[in-house]
Amino acid sequence: MTAPPDNEPIPLAAPDLGEREEQLVLEVLRSGRLSLGPMGERFERAFAAWLGVEDAVAVSSGTAGLHLGVRALGWGAGDEVLTSPFSFVASANCLLYEGARPVFCDVDPETLDLDPAAAEAAVGEGTRGILPVHIFGYPAAMAEIEGLATRHGLGILEDACEALGAIDAEGRAVGTRGNLAAFAFYPNKQMTTGEGGMTIPSGPEDAARLRSERNQGRARDMGWLDHGGLGFNYRLGDLAAALGVAQLERLDRLLERRAALAALYAERLAGIEAVEAPVAARGSERRSWFVYPVRLAAGSDRDAVVARLAERGIASKAYLPCIHLFPHLRELGYREGQFPVAEDASARSLALPFFPSMTEAQVARVCEALAETLPS
Ligand SMILES: Cc1ncc(COP(=O)(O)O)c(C=O)c1O
Repeated sequence: MTAPPDNEPIPLAAPDLGEREEQLVLEVLRSGRLSLGPMGERFERAFAAWLGVEDAVAVSSGTAGLHLGVRALGWGAGDEVLTSPFSFVASANCLLYEGARPVFCDVDPETLDLDPAAAEAAVGEGTRGILPVHIFGYPAAMAEIEGLATRHGLGILEDACEALGAIDAEGRAVGTRGNLAAFAFYPNKQMTTGEGGMTIPSGPEDAARLRSERNQGRARDMGWLDHGGLGFNYRLGDLAAALGVAQLERLDRLLERRAALAALYAERLAGIEAVEAPVAARGSERRSWFVYPVRLAAGSDRDAVVARLAERGIASKAYLPCIHLFPHLRELGYREGQFPVAEDASARSLALPFFPSMTEAQVARVCEALAETLPS
């Protein structure tokens, strides 16, 4: 690979696609089986094998997977579900789709995942479930979350959309502990199908329900115009599945590359006082590096940093806004100041360019530019 020139723009994210993706996409195109064909089933089998679970149900997006998970757990009108305000909006929206209420609880200042103590304190009469988000690929405190769920009789839906490949403190793969879990494959994710997602069921009954609901409520043995109940069109097409099969074949290498880049960033950023690098692991966990979110020192002018990096051709993004402050969640009564840890992280986080084909020279360029834009 030839090194990109010094002034070439550096994007925030970029999918890593190669000849194998082209080959499998062509295979599907030539087969004429663009939906519900063998490539979809192959993707599901390969994904389940990679993750080490019995079954996996492919869906059209991570959001669709979460929505079906909420339905499978029976969460609906009047039910309260404990979740994180520091997440992508879909992890709360999936509850709203079914009339359930997201009950936000603050996050751990280091990992930025749901703080189990805050969740415990928020349990009330109407609490039916807990929806931990493994944010930025950092595994949530699942042992504590499971303990809380057992004590209060709650279901668990894992939002693993950002965390494929993460291993938690007990050595278990993220997405394998909750009653159900959802992964996502948007192009900035650890692996991509363009759009797409995967739901992990807790058993065959769940799996059959998910497969029916993603396909307009049809059962496997039903005709196209037979519907056993309410359903959606949440199918994943076979062209997307072909991308998924190809990406899975080298997912281990893609994850290793991301981890190597994160280590390089940490090394380079160590000398910049106004920048706090994300924690790699607090104990024996293994983070799956999704994005590279640094935190700027309190009082830094983040917008100015983004603008100055952009002048140097370097993309960066304020990341993430807190969910509870979006208009449709304010309608439920949420306000500034309720979740100080999440709000502080949200105000200071900045995602830097991060993708497998990024070179060491590009990491160096980003860090040098960042150092120049910040007061020393
Ligand atoms: C934490 C989290 N939840 C849910 C989703 C939704 O996934 P999708 O965009 O595939 O619907 C995402 C994806 O961006 C995410 O980051």
